[in-house]
Amino acid sequence: MSVRLAVEQPEGFAFTPANLEWAKTQIKKYPEGRQASAVLSLLWRAQEQIGGWLPEPALRYIADMLDMAYIRVYELVTFYTMFNLVPVGRYYVQVCGTTPCMLGGAEDIKDACRKHIGEKDHVSDDGMFSWTEVECLGACVNAPMAQINKYYYEDLTPKNFESILKRLRAGEDVEPGPQDGRQTSAPAGGPNTLTDPALYANDPSGPEPGSAGTTVMASEAKRPASKHEKGPR
Ligand code: FES
Repeated sequence: MSVRLAVEQPEGFAFTPANLEWAKTQIKKYPEGRQASAVLSLLWRAQEQIGGWLPEPALRYIADMLDMAYIRVYELVTFYTMFNLVPVGRYYVQVCGTTPCMLGGAEDIKDACRKHIGEKDHVSDDGMFSWTEVECLGACVNAPMAQINKYYYEDLTPKNFESILKRLRAGEDVEPGPQDGRQTSAPAGGPNTLTDPALYANDPSGPEPGSAGTTVMASEAKRPASKHEKGPR
């Protein structure tokens, strides 16, 4: 994440008609005089529209829309690391380097980034990737981990992480979540508490997804987590 504006800037920025409608809906959620409260959501939508970063015309556009001083918007985008002020790759890799991930091998993951992408905070020559190091992303139990665009990739090793990068570069979809077959953040090897099926005998709906192990849950532990199970826990 850069706290400086990109040297090369586009001429201007405007929301797409659909995003403009969405932005107006967000702004209406706040009482008169408090429209600035919508600023983070509008900035995020603008960043998504542009492809992962915020050029200066977008900052001014949103400031004008919310009747905010430009400097107030600059303050926000240079404070929150989720905003990028310089272009990123099509796949933006954020490697967690905080203690549990560092102890679990984050340095090796960063080395893999250097090998397959290049130096930190630079877009690869093919435009496909850029990477940076971030603080804890809240998935420490699955350390080491990295976020790629919206998704978490967990229980990383240099081998499985390099495979993820290669497959993405080849245009393949790669299932997010634990990369070692673990069921979400259950113990490695599967759930080991509340495993008695009798506990669920009177529950017509059965155990909740992600709850303790029945036979069904044990088999679930063998599959990668589904798209609905990704993200901070
Ligand atoms: S330390 Fe890496 S996700 Fe928390």
